[in-house]
Amino acid sequence: MISDCFAALLCTAAAVSLHYPKNSFTPATESEEVRSAAIKRLLEVFGMDDPPAFHGHKQPPQYMLDLYNAVADVDGVTKDPHLLEGNTVRSFFDKLYSDQVEFSFNLSMVARTEKILAAELHLYKLRPQAPLTLNRHHFSQVSVYQLLDSSKTNFTQKKLLSSRLIPVHSSGWEVFTITHAVRSWMVDEGTNLGLQVVVRTLGGSQMDKKLIRFASGRHHHHSKQPMLVLFTDDGRYSNPLASKDSDDTAETSNLPQTPMSGPLSRSARSLGYDADGAATHCQRFPLNVDFEEIGWSGWIVSPKGYNAYYCKGSCPFPLGQTMKPTNHATVQSIINALKLVKGIETPCCVPDKLFSINLLFFDDDENVVLKQYNDMVAGSCGCH
Ligand SMILES: *[C@@H]1O[C@H](CO)[C@@H](O)[C@H](O)[C@H]1NC(C)=O
Ligand SMILES: *[C@@H]1O[C@H](CO)[C@@H](O)[C@H](O)[C@H]1NC(C)=O
Repeated sequence: MISDCFAALLCTAAAVSLHYPKNSFTPATESEEVRSAAIKRLLEVFGMDDPPAFHGHKQPPQYMLDLYNAVADVDGVTKDPHLLEGNTVRSFFDKLYSDQVEFSFNLSMVARTEKILAAELHLYKLRPQAPLTLNRHHFSQVSVYQLLDSSKTNFTQKKLLSSRLIPVHSSGWEVFTITHAVRSWMVDEGTNLGLQVVVRTLGGSQMDKKLIRFASGRHHHHSKQPMLVLFTDDGRYSNPLASKDSDDTAETSNLPQTPMSGPLSRSARSLGYDADGAATHCQRFPLNVDFEEIGWSGWIVSPKGYNAYYCKGSCPFPLGQTMKPTNHATVQSIINALKLVKGIETPCCVPDKLFSINLLFFDDDENVVLKQYNDMVAGSCGCH
């Protein structure tokens, strides 16, 4: 038993020393320095250098909340890994607040390294103001243009991005694909002169402005603001030390929603020992990461925290199939049991399946961002 605990300690010590070289903190400042170093390291895991400076009470766009709820469960764990092509979705509100149907979005928060997969303009169509009985049009042609540099000519230059027939009587969100424009803006920021929407009758003439109206950031409720939604991949890869199987998240639905059942009391299990003080076999235990305790609740919208789980327990000979041992671990446990070679410990109890989590948060510019992070939750444990 003693050698089992010792081995467990060794496994833990080895894992920790990979990331934290010996430090030279004095005892008095140690805890504060360790704390800030640890939080900085945690930010890096979430792909950030500094925590976003957002502490307001802005309401996130309903679209982003719905998207988050579609991809993630209450704990933030990815429930549908095939819903998103990339790992990042960003939303931007119009900065122009124009009375015309013109919009401009500041994309400075998008990293140069992000691969643009798709971009959409979301406009909220309001009900017609004029009585419909006087109207002989049932459809209108709505076209979205990218505004181009027209300083050298006397007329506005623009490029058609997307065009569609929309029923005059309808109301609600209309989505237009504007991927090409956003890609060109990412190449040269100076070309981002905004977007213009033109509404025509089916005959091609100007449409009565009272019939086809879109909500503007200036005159309408916050929940109906014009919005740009950007789907990207930030090129972050999962920790190479972790699972090689990049399709791990596909099995998220297998993730047990309740802690592993067993005959042990919660407190005994959380220590990794049973009631008699014997080390339990390798298994998974809850490990709650609370963003409020870490001081991040100001800028993280969801989740409030998540269960990362951790693996603990002994891996003694003989390793049964429930331990999911690698062949290497089986041989190591045999060598350990036979004491054929001195100093060979039992294998380590480590996560053998990892799941991704999702974070919905405000960035430095108060845009709401959804990001997926791989390998954040231990799905199961094994002796390796
Ligand atoms: C875009 O936002 C950034 C960060 O808030 C700001 O520094 C920059 O001036 C803005 N650009 C424009 C064109 O408003
Ligand atoms: C632009 O307009 C001005 C005055 O209306 C005219 O003199 C000039 O030739 C025009 N330039 C071009 C490029 O059409």
